[in-house]
Amino acid sequence: MKKVVIVGAGLAGSYLAAHLPADCAVTLVTKKTRGDSNSMLAQGGIAVAVATGDSAAQHADDTLKAGKYHNNAAAVSQLVTTGPVLVKELLAQGMPFDKTSNGELAFGLEGAHSCHRILHAQGDQTGHALTQFVQGMIQNVEWKENTTVVDLLIANGECRGVMLRDAQGQLRPEYADFTVLATGGLGHLYPLTTNDATITGDGIALAQRNGVKLADMAYVQFHPTLLTKNGKCYGLITEAIRGAGAILVDENGTHIMQDFPQKDLAPRDVVTRQLKAWQQKGHQLFLDISAIKDFRKKFPGVSRNLDKHRINFEETALIPIKPGAHFCMGGIKTDLNAQTSLKRLFAIGEVACNGVHGANRLASNSLLDCLVSAHKAAATISTSAMKTDQTVAVKTQPAEPKIIPHLPEQTQLLEMAWKSIGVVRTKETLKEFLNWLARFNYQNLRPEQLSAQELSIANLCVCAELIANSALAQPRSLGANYIEGE
Ligand code: SIN
Repeated sequence: MKKVVIVGAGLAGSYLAAHLPADCAVTLVTKKTRGDSNSMLAQGGIAVAVATGDSAAQHADDTLKAGKYHNNAAAVSQLVTTGPVLVKELLAQGMPFDKTSNGELAFGLEGAHSCHRILHAQGDQTGHALTQFVQGMIQNVEWKENTTVVDLLIANGECRGVMLRDAQGQLRPEYADFTVLATGGLGHLYPLTTNDATITGDGIALAQRNGVKLADMAYVQFHPTLLTKNGKCYGLITEAIRGAGAILVDENGTHIMQDFPQKDLAPRDVVTRQLKAWQQKGHQLFLDISAIKDFRKKFPGVSRNLDKHRINFEETALIPIKPGAHFCMGGIKTDLNAQTSLKRLFAIGEVACNGVHGANRLASNSLLDCLVSAHKAAATISTSAMKTDQTVAVKTQPAEPKIIPHLPEQTQLLEMAWKSIGVVRTKETLKEFLNWLARFNYQNLRPEQLSAQELSIANLCVCAELIANSALAQPRSLGANYIEGE
């Protein structure tokens, strides 16, 4: 029996758990409940070239263009050719993607796509519908909810499981023949984010502490439209709304993207920088939805959220928005089979970087990548001839004297991150930020000695340093890594 531990129960982790063969004993760990993940919050949909007239080549072309050709072309090819096979399989299994009144699949449009190719479910609740559907396929898995990953267990240069902190706060080693990280990105490094509250860079930080290779950390995607009220973010306003005809305006009704060739459907990095420039001139930002008929019917999830936060969108046709952190294109470096630089350790979904997204992810490619990377990990683990041996001796760290953590206040870290490693960066602010981070001792702490809150802040500090160093190391501005004057 192969013992597999998967950390993270979003779409990637859940899809893997559902597709490992019966000779695997699978443990699925999640920081909160199985309903708390970025995948569950994904709105717009899943990009996949299955419409008549569309093709894998066209999808690849759009992905590369949006990614500024920084993408790994082989990873893109794998995404656009394997993705349709997996989505058709899900359709055959009964996944209820939305249909037109003729009973055909309904395809939406999002930024930088050359045609309508976004499948969606329950209007704008695709991530929730898809992740729940996939979780419903999982059998014979031991769920560990309310459980945090603290560290990797390493023996003889191989990963042999993870150290976990359970719901009661107890440290528990979870030994495994294969360990898979599916922990998502690092959205909560920034004050405004679309990400679930659990997303604090945990997988990336523990990979860094254990010398596992990372890649492309400079590239953090900021989504143009987060619902904001009184400076607070209340979730995503899906790009599919711009795909259906909404436009970005200021308080005077000026069309902010008017002068851009792709207008409101330009790639996200382009739209976000323009919004940021507009904000700096003192303007407020809105999404003007007056061109969309039956808004409530088309976007029921967003409408419910707007009602909840008392946004009078039906009367004004305006939704107040601001850009904020959404997705990390970089992460734990993997090959096309999701294998990391550490033997027996895999990474899938947003925490991984096989280069598929390049310098700026194409809208709605992330759910597709969750399926494809999990599918590759499942195939590799199930055919692996690596010896399975759960009695392998993992050296645990001898009890060490407690190091007193000296960490920044979370709000201070987030403000500094937004200013220094946000939408627009400068070499000077990047260097100042690294000097500021050097005042704290997050790199020397033993993760098992920290409280959950301390560990999250330490992990975010590790990610912040990785982003700043990677940004400074790039030869020029590219995609989401925009350095003024470079
Ligand atoms: C959205 O619905 O705007 C987000 C989809 C994505 O992140 O690709």
